[in-house]
Amino acid sequence: MVTILDGKAVSEKRLELIKEAISESGLYPRLATVIVGSDPASQMYVRMKHRACERVGIGSVGIEIPDDATTAKVLETIGRLNADNDINGILVQLPLPKQIDTDKVISAVKIEKDVDGFHPTSLGLLMSGKPVFTPCTPTGIMTILKEYHIPVAGAHAVVAGRSIDVGRPMAALLTNADATVTVCHSKTRDLAGELRRADILVSAIGKAHFITPEMVKPGAAVIDVGINHLDGKLVGDVDFDAVKEVASAITPVPGGVGPMTIATLMENTFTAAQRMQ
Ligand SMILES: NC(=O)c1ccc[n+]([C@@H]2O[C@H](COP(=O)([O-])OP(=O)(O)OC[C@H]3O[C@@H](n4cnc5c(N)ncnc54)[C@H](OP(=O)(O)O)[C@@H]3O)[C@@H](O)[C@H]2O)c1
Repeated sequence: MVTILDGKAVSEKRLELIKEAISESGLYPRLATVIVGSDPASQMYVRMKHRACERVGIGSVGIEIPDDATTAKVLETIGRLNADNDINGILVQLPLPKQIDTDKVISAVKIEKDVDGFHPTSLGLLMSGKPVFTPCTPTGIMTILKEYHIPVAGAHAVVAGRSIDVGRPMAALLTNADATVTVCHSKTRDLAGELRRADILVSAIGKAHFITPEMVKPGAAVIDVGINHLDGKLVGDVDFDAVKEVASAITPVPGGVGPMTIATLMENTFTAAQRMQ
């Protein structure tokens, strides 16, 4: 019988715990979000983050910069937020418009406020096994695995996708938790063969229903990061209905990894406030 890994329920529980912890701490953590341009998806994600802040008792400041801004203008905003002692966390909503140097912007965020965990130093510390802040989506996945007692140490984990925001930090977090990790990407020769060896399969490819039952070892835990649109519906990378017949555990889309990303952002922001105190 397959276990549905209910990220929505786990995130609800985590949000309640964070709310309690914040209230007991007497702190008033504050998150600043920076959005450049008017991409509707980015605006929706930022709105969801602000709503979560409100729910747990984190103050949030939304900074909106016009579409045609220069890198210098965005850097000036980051500099101001870095210097503001009332701001504990800074989140730059990605992707940024083409004319903006994304690497420069991410690198400008003060490490102590890097609640997204994308700063090169944060990623380097994660690789070294001594993380300070870790990216929210893969960290949320580690929380789901823990919550459902899915053994990670000694397991063979296969991560499909090697992006900086998901695939690479996911592989590092799993390695730090003593899994044996394989990372696959678009040039992997025998992708199905690699995936079939996974006890824990994480797909962060971004292709609707790409992962089929033939690619999944019977009894594997399958984590679907993908967010894709198919026939007007939101679906993951995994063909959920077919793969749930072979997996021992699986995340749905929506309601799996997505909500955990936001809950982790709240945790990171509270951690930043505690460290700044
Ligand atoms: N739930 C959440 O909170 C959350 C958060 C972030 C992202 N996402 C979703 O997760 C998905 C991935 O996001 P991302 O930012 O990591 O995407 P990305 O930057 O586009 O990376 C996609 C990765 O998949 C690999 N890939 C693409 N086609 C492949 C194929 N046919 N076979 C094997 N590997 C393939 C690419 O390989 P190469 O490196 O060789 O090009 C790349 O490493 C998207 O659907 C995104 O919307 C969800």
